[in-house]
Amino acid sequence: MPLSIVILAAGQGKRMKSDLPKVLQPLAGRPLLRHVLDCARALGPDAIHVVHGHGAEQVRAAFPETDLTWVLQAEQHGTGHAVMQAMPAVPDDHQVLVLYGDVPLVRAATLRELVAAAGTGSLAILSVLLADPAGYGRVLRDKAGNVYRIVEHKDANRKELAVQESNTGLLAAPAAALRRWLASLRNDNAQGEYYLTDVVTLAVKDGATITAVVAPTAAEVLGVNDRQQLAQLEAEYRRQRAGELLEAGVTLADPARLDVRGTVRCGRDVRIDVNVVLEGEVELGDRVVVGPGCVLRDVTVAADTVLHPHCVLTGAAIGARCSVGPFARMRPGARLLDDAHVGNFVELKNATLGAGSKANHLTYLGDATVGAKVNVGAGTITCNYDGVNKWPTVIEDGAFIGSGAMLVAPITIGRNATVGAGSTITKPAPREALTLARTRQQSLAGWHRPAKATTEERSRAIERARLPEDDHSG
Ligand code: UD1
Ligand code: CA
Repeated sequence: MPLSIVILAAGQGKRMKSDLPKVLQPLAGRPLLRHVLDCARALGPDAIHVVHGHGAEQVRAAFPETDLTWVLQAEQHGTGHAVMQAMPAVPDDHQVLVLYGDVPLVRAATLRELVAAAGTGSLAILSVLLADPAGYGRVLRDKAGNVYRIVEHKDANRKELAVQESNTGLLAAPAAALRRWLASLRNDNAQGEYYLTDVVTLAVKDGATITAVVAPTAAEVLGVNDRQQLAQLEAEYRRQRAGELLEAGVTLADPARLDVRGTVRCGRDVRIDVNVVLEGEVELGDRVVVGPGCVLRDVTVAADTVLHPHCVLTGAAIGARCSVGPFARMRPGARLLDDAHVGNFVELKNATLGAGSKANHLTYLGDATVGAKVNVGAGTITCNYDGVNKWPTVIEDGAFIGSGAMLVAPITIGRNATVGAGSTITKPAPREALTLARTRQQSLAGWHRPAKATTEERSRAIERARLPEDDHSG
């Protein structure tokens, strides 16, 4: 049967105490709803309807993709009411799967099971066994174990409250039947809402079978209502991702102190120290070592490279056997070829450092192409920006740049050229030659240190130091 997924995402999330609509709250750096959508798409549905309300424009703007049908639920009259808003766009011969925008860790495998359980004629609900089910709807079963009702916490009596099997809210049913049941919902309950959960009773009346699929773990069906729960889910997400890396053979100094917020591919015997954050697409080659406190986003690192502590790399490609940091910053377009070394307080942006080249201390290389076996001295800066334009710097193979050089771009430093320390280079530095661009050192014998100025001398000196007034006479 074709599948239509309906995601409920209209709620405000009052308890988050936030200006951001709840489904936009980030988990592992991505909105809650993004996680749900990714999972929904994994099922290959024919349509995804997102029921939204609070912060409608903001929510829509956050998901510009074109495979979504946005359904506005201007006022929130309950989960049943929410699903009703989406139903006009769902054909009778579809299967409907209801997801929550604030239940982000649900797995596709569980949902496939739920959809299969609904089949062509039944209602399938996803339940979970909770030690503390406070706040959840309880799944009531008769003596034979058949589900006959879900009672909301606020409507439950003492005996019902003792039931541990709880409703996750996620369910699947054939569209035609669901439409019929929804049409009979009433709001005469503790919250004056149209409860989606009441379709259970209506399905029973209809003679339909009801299957409860029990979620394999509570973690995957946990919802986010407050910051406490959001932090718990973040920890769960962290635990899962770290677990996958351990499973894949990566050494983690502490699985609880690694945050994977994207996709990570690792070679063999990779070691990752504490407090590392990996975002976007990260690829670490064999035996790569990532030191404590490193933050990597969209980065590839080839085999045997060491990232020393506290490096921040974004959009960078690092070759094999490189040494980076501590405290290095690789910005988008930074490329280190094999055996390159970058040390502390070195920043690269849109710059390539050639094979075996070194920039070990306090350097900025921007819009630069540095050849092989180049030594970039401490404090060297490519002056790539004139206030309006960005200009390129080329440093050819084997060049030696003395410490504290200012390379004013556009500029070329020739092969095997040597640039004297402290030079400000504004013209091409020829190959194989020494180029110096600094004032000659002088020493004045018999020079005396200044004496204390009188008040009068002082005012005269200050007067002489003024710029002439602007002439406004015309
Ligand atoms: C719901 C279930 C409860 C279950 C619990 C699990 C009902 C009546 N109750 O309760 O049995 O144990 O989830 O978390 O279904 N939403 C809308 N529009 C609305 C109302 C809600 O889009 O008019 C969305 C919310 O944004 C949220 C989801 O539906 O994503 C669930 O709503 P919520 O109010 O959290 O339901 P609960 O009262 O927690
Ligand atoms: Ca809830």
